[in-house]
Amino acid sequence: MGKYLENIGLMQNILHKKTYYIETYGCQMNVYDSELVAGFLEKSGYRSVTDYKNADVIFLNTCSIRDNAEETVHRKLENLEYLKKQNPKRMIGVLGCMAQNLKDDLMESKPFVDIVLGPDSYRKIPEILENRNKVNGHFVDTKLSKFEIYEDLFPTRQSGVNAWVSIMRGCDKFCTFCIVPFTRGRERSRALDNIVKEVENCIDQGFIEVTLLGQNVNSYRTPEGSFPELLEAVAKVKGLKRLRYTSPHPRDIDDSLLRVMQENNNICNHIHLPLQAGSDRILKRMNRTYTKKEFLSLANKIKSYLPDCAITTDVIVGFPGETEDEFLDTLDVAEQVGFDNSFMFKYSARPGTKAAGYSDTVDESIKQNRLERYIALQKILSLKRNKEKVGKTLNVLVEKESKKSKDQWAGRTDGNMWVVFNKTNEKIKDIVPVKILDAKGITMMGERQK
Ligand code: 5AD
Ligand code: SF4
Repeated sequence: MGKYLENIGLMQNILHKKTYYIETYGCQMNVYDSELVAGFLEKSGYRSVTDYKNADVIFLNTCSIRDNAEETVHRKLENLEYLKKQNPKRMIGVLGCMAQNLKDDLMESKPFVDIVLGPDSYRKIPEILENRNKVNGHFVDTKLSKFEIYEDLFPTRQSGVNAWVSIMRGCDKFCTFCIVPFTRGRERSRALDNIVKEVENCIDQGFIEVTLLGQNVNSYRTPEGSFPELLEAVAKVKGLKRLRYTSPHPRDIDDSLLRVMQENNNICNHIHLPLQAGSDRILKRMNRTYTKKEFLSLANKIKSYLPDCAITTDVIVGFPGETEDEFLDTLDVAEQVGFDNSFMFKYSARPGTKAAGYSDTVDESIKQNRLERYIALQKILSLKRNKEKVGKTLNVLVEKESKKSKDQWAGRTDGNMWVVFNKTNEKIKDIVPVKILDAKGITMMGERQK
């Protein structure tokens, strides 16, 4: 009987063409989660629309990592208020880290928001939408689970070259600046077989590259194996041309992981290795559990296993108490490693984290100045790394038409760097040899080889 009613509900949704729109902010994990949510909505008979003004349900999947990420969502919600007034039956939902972090604030300051769901509550969506006319008020669920890994679900993905596949959820590292352990809860790993099955599915759907995702991929643990075993099993999936992962914690990169990367040709020669800071005192205060010397020797070890490996990073400038000399340590590590690229952030205090309680904050103008100096150094380093490739022939995966000309392709090397070259007979998703002719900023120019 339950199934029968469920089917009637589904038919009604399809007949009335119920529609949804999801806007995603923040990290790739949110991109993946939005695809999971899309899976729930489509199962309930909803279909996606590209203009949110035409949607019966609008979800914002939100991010709390820095202050400005939250501000963007607040502004967007203010824009949505008038849509709700126009059609009070339209449902507006806030998902993800801000929902988890700020539910009371949100309900108070944005009373028109109907649904507030944290990252472990998305299974509730079909039930909530079904009962929408029966319940008056908000739907709130921000319970964090020790177990929810959305194991049996396959997300609804946009078509493309790369599919994101989450292998674990949560984080137990508690870096003192970071809100993630509070918004996403404890670490949980998905079963190895289930991940392999999802990757096989992605290949069947036409994807040729997969990026394994986790807040800390090398904390992946299951009875069937840990991260190196998982990586090896996924690399063996037929038809998978490129395999990437993000992000590992520098503390947990070991020889067995590097060996698996060395032995499997389709695992990309790229490691995103978040440094955060170069000074031992700041690293300790951040609870990063490694020293400058250890990070540098890890970078050398990576290069000894994988000589051409691209190394990219995340850095935070202006962490509480960071002196000029300590900031110079960050520049020094960047220079010694020669990062191919960096994501660079000014420290943003996140209420509830340990570092938010530190009173020796760094002035905004000093943070800005350090950020600009780091960006300037990174530009030089990226250009240098790319110039080293001039004259070499690299395999490029054709991903899209170049923004500048419809006669050119843009594709990525396995080190994740963009190359633009004139079209010949290749098509999107081909991997072709391209000789690098020049490098500008972070983009290289090349010529297709036969
Ligand atoms: N302020 C600035 N940057 C932060 N990150 C995480 N928390 C903060 C914060 N409070 C950065 C880190 C992390 C990346 C995803 O975001 O560099 O690796
Ligand atoms: Fe945040 Fe640190 Fe966990 Fe990364 S490892 S998600 S920075 S607490």
